[in-house]
Amino acid sequence: MNDTANAPESRVTLPVLQAKKARGEKIVALTAYDFPTAQILDEAGVDLILVGDSLGMVVLGYDTTMPVTMDDMILHTRPVVRAARRALVIGDMPYFSFHRSLEDSLSNAARFVKEAGADGVKIEGATPLRLKLVEALVEAEIPVMGHVGLTPQSVNRLGGFKVEGTDGEGAQRILRDAQNLIKAGVFSLILESIPLELARAVTERSSVPTIGIGAGPHCDGQILVFHDLAGYSKGYMPKFVKKYADLQAVLSAAVRAYGRDVKSGRFPDDAHSYHLPKDQQRGPALRTKAGKGKARA
Ligand code: KIV
Repeated sequence: MNDTANAPESRVTLPVLQAKKARGEKIVALTAYDFPTAQILDEAGVDLILVGDSLGMVVLGYDTTMPVTMDDMILHTRPVVRAARRALVIGDMPYFSFHRSLEDSLSNAARFVKEAGADGVKIEGATPLRLKLVEALVEAEIPVMGHVGLTPQSVNRLGGFKVEGTDGEGAQRILRDAQNLIKAGVFSLILESIPLELARAVTERSSVPTIGIGAGPHCDGQILVFHDLAGYSKGYMPKFVKKYADLQAVLSAAVRAYGRDVKSGRFPDDAHSYHLPKDQQRGPALRTKAGKGKARA
């Protein structure tokens, strides 16, 4: 008998992602921040789950990702790791967790692996210090994903959430940053909010898989924020988001229906209630002390 016929699909690893790029097979990535969502993604065949610091905006209610802390990230990475049986799980290093010193940054990255069980980390940007950090992380056996283009932790310097690399100088900088990160040892690169022509050029020159978000169809894979794809976030949506469901509407309708049923007494009905055994329904189990007193009087 062939045991592999019933074996669970094997885990996605760095070489698996690299092989997908070589075969021209697209990589499917999404963000998740909790157990049930990660379980849905994993069972649906998502290759890579990023516990993004977008957590701050879509789950914690901040206007930017800047306030997110290491503790927030560890708390939300743990359940995703517990749920992911197949997907690679990457933890996103939040703002100021990799900006102070190499030692401090290494310790924070190691928390994702040792405390939360993640397969690697992502860092934004490609400054000289970050390139050194990538080298040090690879040396410490922590796989790193790079992130260029729109890097939300630089929102104050960039002047808002907008498309990057739209002029010659900006495009050259992104091409250079990508090459420097690859040389430093990243296993993959996120390309966020850049023109598709630039993303194609980065991808063609890249020895590691590129994963696009708002970077057009020529990347080796695609990632979206789960809450955007699922219609579970309100407010402004960038042009690159495709909404595959309207969870806001579905959940809002469910909660309103529940409210109506509670107010009208339709919930809970008999089908959603428990009973004492028939012979106990009017028997001793329901006699209170006060009741006994009255009966005696
Ligand atoms: O934090 C995040 O979710 C991200 C993705 C948008 C790539 O960095």
